[in-house]
Amino acid sequence: MSFFEIINAPARLNRSELAVPGSQPELFEKAAKSDADIIFLDLEDAVAPEQKVQARQNVIEGLNDIDWSEKTISVRINGLDTHYMYRDVVDILEKAGDKLDLIMIPKVGTASDVYALDMLVTQIEEATSIKRPIGFEHIIETALGMQNIESIAAASKRNESLHFGVADYAASTKARTTAIGGVNEKYSVLTDGDSDKPRETHWGDMWHYALARLVVAARANGLRPIDGPFGDFSDDDGFLAAANRAATLGLEGKWAIHPSQIKLANTVMTPSKEDISQAVAILEAMDEAKQTGKGAVSLNGKLVDLASIRQAEVLVEKGRQIGII
Ligand code: GLV
Ligand code: MG
Repeated sequence: MSFFEIINAPARLNRSELAVPGSQPELFEKAAKSDADIIFLDLEDAVAPEQKVQARQNVIEGLNDIDWSEKTISVRINGLDTHYMYRDVVDILEKAGDKLDLIMIPKVGTASDVYALDMLVTQIEEATSIKRPIGFEHIIETALGMQNIESIAAASKRNESLHFGVADYAASTKARTTAIGGVNEKYSVLTDGDSDKPRETHWGDMWHYALARLVVAARANGLRPIDGPFGDFSDDDGFLAAANRAATLGLEGKWAIHPSQIKLANTVMTPSKEDISQAVAILEAMDEAKQTGKGAVSLNGKLVDLASIRQAEVLVEKGRQIGII
C-alpha cells in the first residue's frame, strides 16, 4: 500500500437514490416512506424555470414538515451558472439546514466550483444552528467535469459521492444518442469477416470509459461512485443489466427516476447471499492459512491470497452495513 492515507466519506447506504421533483410536493411523503436509501429533492432539471421559486419553497416546507429520519436526504440545487443557485443554498440551509444531509451539485466542472460552494455552506453553517456538516454529492455530467474529475473528487472534505449523469454527459460530449443511459446498437463490434463462421454483432457499453474513470476517481478519494439515471422506466431488464454492469465495475448505487426502479437498484447493489458466504469462506480459509504461516491457500480449487482477504472484507463490510450478516 502507498503511505498516502485515503480518508473515507461517512459510511452511508447508497444502493438506490430516488429523484423527486421539487415541483411535485405531493410525492414527498411517499418518497420518505419508500425503500430508497437516499432521496434527492430536485430543484434543477426536473423543474421548469417558472416553477423554480415555488419548488424551492416546497422543498423547504417538505424538509421541515415530513419525517425523513429513516432516510438520507439531499437536495439537488441549480447549477453554478444560474442565479437560482445562491438562493437555493442560502434559503434551504437557513430555513431547513438541520434537516438536510447532503447537497447534490449538478454539472460540476472544476475544483473551484466545489471550493466556492464549500465556502458558502461553511459560512451558513457557522452563522446558523446547523450541527451536522452538510456533505456534497457531485454529478459528473460534462466533458469539463470528466476532465477535472480527480481534482473535483479531492476538492472538499464535504465530498461524499460522485454520480454519473449520463444524459447531460451525452449532450456535453455530443454523443449520438437521445436515450437516457442504456445501450446503442451503433456502438457495437462486428466479428471478423475473414473467419468461416457467420459474422456476429456484439453490442458494447458506450458508457464504460466514463463509469470506469468515475470509479477510480471516487475510490482514490474515499468517495462513493454512483451510477445515474436509466430513462426507460418500463424496461426493468434494461435497468437491471445497466445496474449489474455498474455494480461489477465497483459502483455502489444507482439512481431511481421512478419508484419502480428502487427495488431493482437495491437488489443489484446488495451483495448476494452466495457472494457473502464465499467471502466469509475466504476469510476463514485465510485465517487458517495464517495459523500455519502461509500467505496463500486453495479454496474449492482456486487460489486465494492476501488480496483475496481485502476483496472479501469489502463484501463482508457491505453485508454488515446493509444488515444481512
Ligand atoms: C442527470 O442529471 C443526467 O443528466 O443524467
Ligand atoms: Mg443532468
